[in-house]
Amino acid sequence: MLTPAQRDIVKSTVPLLETGGEALTTHFYKGLFRDHPEVRPLFNQAHQASGDQPRALAHGVLMYAKNIDRLEALGPLAQQIVQKHVALQVLPAHYPLVGDSLLRAIREVLGAEIATDAVIEAWAKAYGQLADLLIGAEAAVYADNAQAPGGWRGARAFRVAGKQRESAEITSFHLVPADGGPLLDFKPGQFLGLRLVVDGQEIRRNYSLSAAPDGRRYRISVKREPGGVASNHLHDRVQEGDLLDVFPPAGEFTLADSGKPLVLISGGVGITPTLAMLDAALAAPGRRPVHFIHCARNADVHAFRAHVDAQAARHPRLQVFYCHDEPAGAGPAPHAIGRLDRARLADWLPADRDLDAYFLGPKPFMAQLRRDLQALGVPPEQSRYEFFGPASALA
Ligand SMILES: Cc1cc2nc3c(=O)[nH]c(=O)nc-3n(C[C@H](O)[C@H](O)[C@H](O)COP(=O)(O)OP(=O)(O)OC[C@H]3O[C@@H](n4cnc5c(N)ncnc54)[C@H](O)[C@@H]3O)c2cc1C
Ligand code: HEM
Repeated sequence: MLTPAQRDIVKSTVPLLETGGEALTTHFYKGLFRDHPEVRPLFNQAHQASGDQPRALAHGVLMYAKNIDRLEALGPLAQQIVQKHVALQVLPAHYPLVGDSLLRAIREVLGAEIATDAVIEAWAKAYGQLADLLIGAEAAVYADNAQAPGGWRGARAFRVAGKQRESAEITSFHLVPADGGPLLDFKPGQFLGLRLVVDGQEIRRNYSLSAAPDGRRYRISVKREPGGVASNHLHDRVQEGDLLDVFPPAGEFTLADSGKPLVLISGGVGITPTLAMLDAALAAPGRRPVHFIHCARNADVHAFRAHVDAQAARHPRLQVFYCHDEPAGAGPAPHAIGRLDRARLADWLPADRDLDAYFLGPKPFMAQLRRDLQALGVPPEQSRYEFFGPASALA
């Protein structure tokens, strides 16, 4: 346990972390990959390059230091970290490696004068306390996943039972357990972890489940990223019949229990979790109105239109709106050309603004949506979103 004096030391380093937190974590990652290369496959190197992941960890550490007296205040952040960690299979044995690199980085960045033995010792204990909290929470999720019907622990081999082009950029993969066993249920909006070996290097990536649970197979839908390691490998080299290593579904971007009007808004490949949510919401009994708004660059990259249109034809309670940035591409015209601005959004939302909104897309698109939904009267706590990368503030 931290002594009161050690708590004070940790809290007193908050201002230093606030100004130097990012530098600290950048140093930390460099040291981690240099000293413990075995953890490298867990981390998406593109997230390191963009600075998003160092920022996310800096935020996590900072929040922790601020709330060291009342760790329950970390609630939602801790769960978010746990879900990310579980999806990439962070294990107890990894924590001492990360702790070692973090303390070393604190020493390097702060210098011997500030990072005294007492400061380092306080942080070592504080880190240990946080690590125990996360290890415990993650162990509970791993155990639940292993014990649930159709569940498993670690990687399980799935066969690619189908590969389907959805647009010029997005391809779906239908995955069934290679052992022929039952399939763990999931909540629409959750994602899988994939462990791939590309040119001899192991990498891990998350992909949202893009179809509602059917008890037989999972579907993921992957956008080809220019220069992207995993997405190009999946598009070009993974074929029907191949095996993929899959970690169990995880994530908290899931439909809340509610009968309020449901609004699903997506940009580009951000459509994937909203498709699973859409199908699940329409399969549920009742008359809950659903508005599905999707923005794509143009008709060529607009995926899943036929499916969503068919759902709209079957379910009068579903209203669909499409927005394309540009008029290019083969296919039916969208409802609007141009960006989804506030006026357009106002037209496409249900009149009753006491609604549940779920959205995902490029970060600027999400930041704008968050502002617009609030300005249009949607209660902020009823706007939920997910990131296809490290979580960050939607400024
Ligand atoms: C919860 C969650 C759900 C997701 N769901 C989906 C989904 O449903 N569908 C989907 O398509 N994606 C999804 N993603 C994103 C997915 O996990 C991958 O990030 C995405 O496929 C890109 O991976 P990649 O290996 O192809 O690209 P990466 O190799 O990670 O590269 C991404 C981009 O960064 C650039 N880059 C790479 N390394 C560097 C570097 N060192 N310096 C500068 N630039 C660099 C690349 O050129 C490329 O443009 C999800 C992510 C999360 C976290
Ligand atoms: C107390 C210790 C730790 C804290 C406070 C912490 C915090 C965080 C935070 C805040 C995120 C971002 C979450 C998000 O994007 O929503 C994250 C992601 C992640 N963490 Fe940790 N973490 C810790 C330990 C570890 C350990 C031991 C490992 C394993 C080596 C690890 C591996 C990862 C990975 C792989 C990601 C996702 C990275 C990506 O998006 O590329 N973390 N962690």
